[in-house]
Order: sequence, then C-alpha cells, then structure tokens
Amino acid sequence: MTYEIIRGDSFETLQRFHREGRKFDAILTDPPYCSRPGGSYGSGARKYVNLARVGSRLEDCNFSEAPNQFAAYEFARHWMQASALVLRAPGYFFCFTDWVMIPAFTMAMQSSGIVYRGLIPWNKNNARCHPGYFTQVCEFVIWGTVNGVSDKFVKGYLEGSAPANESRIHPTQKNETVCAELLRILPDDATDVLDPFCGSATTGAACARFGINFVGVENVPTIADVAENRLRNTTWAQRLTTKEEADKWTEQTPAFW
Ligand SMILES: C[S@@+](CC[C@H](N)C(=O)[O-])C[C@H]1O[C@@H](n2cnc3c(N)ncnc32)[C@H](O)[C@@H]1O
Repeated sequence: MTYEIIRGDSFETLQRFHREGRKFDAILTDPPYCSRPGGSYGSGARKYVNLARVGSRLEDCNFSEAPNQFAAYEFARHWMQASALVLRAPGYFFCFTDWVMIPAFTMAMQSSGIVYRGLIPWNKNNARCHPGYFTQVCEFVIWGTVNGVSDKFVKGYLEGSAPANESRIHPTQKNETVCAELLRILPDDATDVLDPFCGSATTGAACARFGINFVGVENVPTIADVAENRLRNTTWAQRLTTKEEADKWTEQTPAFW
C-alpha cells in the first residue's frame, strides 16, 4: 500500500490528475470552511488561497467581516467540479463542514455533478459553550457519489472527540476513527482515496487501517511535513475487507503519538 503527500494547490493538482486520467474511488476531505473569520489562520482570506487563479469573485469578498456562504460556494464549486472528474464509479465524495457552510457546500456539490445523497452528523462532544447559544456539538459530513452506490450497510451518525492536547498536531484536525467509519461504505475493490486539503493527513491514517492507497494535497510546507511524518510512522494494513478485520487491526496497531 502506498501514500503520497503532494505539496501544492488542490485545484491545480485535481486538474492535473484529470489531464493524466488518474482516478480515485473516493475523496474524503475537510476543506477550509472560513466560518470563523480571524480564527486560527488569522483571517478568513488566508484560508482560501490561490483564488484569483480559478477566476472566482472571491477577491471581492471581505472575509474579515462575516462568514460568507456565497464566497464559500464560489470556492467550493471549483474544487468540487474538479473532484467529480477524478472519481471512478461509484465514486464516493465526503466533505466535512460546520453548520454555517452546509448550504454553500451542498449547492456546490450539486453543481459539480456529484449526486448529493446525505448529511451525517458528527458529535464531537467537546464543543465550546457560549451564553445564549445552543452548544454546537456537531459538525457534519455531506456525502454523495458520481454514479451508483456500494452494497454496504453503514450507520449514519458519527461520534468521537476532535484530538486535543498532545495528540493534536493540526489546528483543525479531525478524528481518525470518524474518518475510518466513513471509509467502511466503500466497495471491497476500492483501492485509492484522495484528500485535496489533507492537513495532517487524518484521512491517510484512516486509509492505513484498511490498506487503501492514499494521496493527500497540502499547500503549506510545514503542514505537509507533519502529514508525511505521520504517515511514515503509520503501519499500513494489508487490504482488509470486513469491519471485524479492520477493528482487530486497529486494536493491535496504536497510533504513533
Ligand atoms: C481544515 S484543514 C484539514 C485538516 C485535516 N483534516 C486534519 O485532520 O489534519 C485544511 C487544510 O487545507 C490546506 N489548504 C487550504 N487551501 C489549500 C489549497 N488551495 N490547496 C492545498 N491545501 C490547502 C490548509 O493549509 C489546511 O491544512
């Protein structure tokens, strides 16, 4: 089983894969949501990079003012359209989102030719509380396929805390087991998964549990280093096909940190 971290822009890489005829069985990704301007990236605009190049109107949007679903839509439809072109049927597409960007991302997905099939709540358990607000303990995974579906039965609810303290190696790191749960729906002959916004490569670590090849794209060099280091220290399972086999493998193989 192999992994590859590509240091570059997701949109350009997706376009190159399309030109080369390279295909993936699934895309499982966690793009920048830009829902909290001034958050861990300093400004919302810094999250969306290389935007002028894709010809969008994003440069007209002031990310510092407010979460902006229209800007997020403009960004998402470019990379989602490019994503649809590199998926082989059934071609599962999973995209993490918070509640703010659900409308933008689901519209972008539908305009990209991916059939929007559902929304999976992910209960993180460890959300911040604010007076007067309902505590937003869930993020979501929107999902769809390009053509058909697999024959697997998988629950439509995810639970698991976002990594904290010493296990946190990326500001918006996802839970590895949650990502692995999503991969359970792939057909037995699925071999290749792509994450165009891979961060610390949590999707890659989840692929390792099933022995699925992984390609991640990350445009911040220091974060790409973190991803490579993580996957170098991850033991890749032989190709596993059943839930029981994958669970057994995971028990025997603790994460490296
Ligand atoms: C939400 S984080 C992903 C975190 C990841 N799921 C994890 O568990 O570590 C999104 C990542 O996409 C990267 N990114 C943002 N824009 C990008 C682009 N145009 N091309 C490639 N990577 C990009 C960011 O640097 C960031 O690390």
